[in-house]
Amino acid sequence: RTIERLGDLRGKRVLVRSDLNVPLDGDTITDDGRVRASVTTIRELAEAGARVVVTAHLGRPKGSPEPKYSLAPVAKRLSELLGADVAFATDTVGESARKTVAALNDGDVALLENVRFDARETSKDDGERGSLADELATLADYFVSDGFGVVHRKQASVYDIAQRLPRAAGRLVEAEFDAFRSVLATPRRPYVVVLGGSKVSDKLGVIDNLLGKVDRLLIGGGMAFTFLAARGYEVGGSLLESDQIGTVRQYLERAAQRGVELVLPIDVVVSADISADAETSVVDASAIPADQKGLDIGPATVELFRGKLSDAKTVVWNGPMGVFELAPFAAGTTEVARAVSDVEGTSVVGGGDSAAAVRKLGLDESAFTHISTGGGASLELLEGKTLPGLAVLED
Ligand code: 3PG
Repeated sequence: RTIERLGDLRGKRVLVRSDLNVPLDGDTITDDGRVRASVTTIRELAEAGARVVVTAHLGRPKGSPEPKYSLAPVAKRLSELLGADVAFATDTVGESARKTVAALNDGDVALLENVRFDARETSKDDGERGSLADELATLADYFVSDGFGVVHRKQASVYDIAQRLPRAAGRLVEAEFDAFRSVLATPRRPYVVVLGGSKVSDKLGVIDNLLGKVDRLLIGGGMAFTFLAARGYEVGGSLLESDQIGTVRQYLERAAQRGVELVLPIDVVVSADISADAETSVVDASAIPADQKGLDIGPATVELFRGKLSDAKTVVWNGPMGVFELAPFAAGTTEVARAVSDVEGTSVVGGGDSAAAVRKLGLDESAFTHISTGGGASLELLEGKTLPGLAVLED
């Protein structure tokens, strides 16, 4: 249900929900990947003569304005990327929004202030969300859903608004949906998923779902230590979710029963200290000293993972292999990212920290088939869930 279905857009006001939730250091955007990914749809609509009104959130404010969560710096970046002025409304559905939208000419773009400054956006109450959606709907003739990173949220500007205006999926949602659909529905085999990140408790649903589908599951990052503990290893001071050991043990058994190769680190980069100048050493995964923490996968694991990826026809990678933000612990994530990008088949990077790692480490983004902008949203797709913001776009 893409933009074409809306017909001639000249002079029409189009409300676009984008995901502009970017990391900020003061007023400086430290990773503008989501803004760049949002430009395609906004530019296309503006070039079609629409009056484009963008709504988005930043961070998790508590339902009232908080200056550190203002979208003002994002409006500036959007304007640079579009090469055109972006009018910024200092509220979402108030006087500033109404005046800003009324002043738009055909082809102009406006950004409304953080929609989460209004507590109704994230309310669990249908009526409250509906009343915000009603107000947003007065600002537009059409709705375009393009914030892939929020389609798993049943929120007023994502879900309820789509029931109030003629709607369509934007180009980013379309591209993300197509990329995940091809991987999830008919993966070419071998189908290999690489999972990392700090907490296994965030990935239980994904692992559960994938154990019935993948050929190999490679596990790194902080979550690997709960798996190693489930195998009976001592993990020293590494991240460990003791309450998940039982569940993880069941996954290990299920993987074995189903013939899924579940591959864990065989060596680990350890240190007593998590800092940019930490002293590190590499130890066997079965010999992590009690006073050390595992903070990255080791070189033998990188080689093992590279081998498991080498003949893959479909790869999904979600979650870093270590504390990649710090140089002493970045090699595992860098090398696994390279191995994923070298895959001859389809390679999908599942958003969030892994997408940020690809950019931060300066890797060639074009070497991947698709780099998702959605963290939680892509995880929920991998879990096999129905996402409210996508379901509502269907007729
Ligand atoms: C994200 O950062 O994953 C999206 O922007 C959604 O943000 P949220 O988790 O605060 O809803």
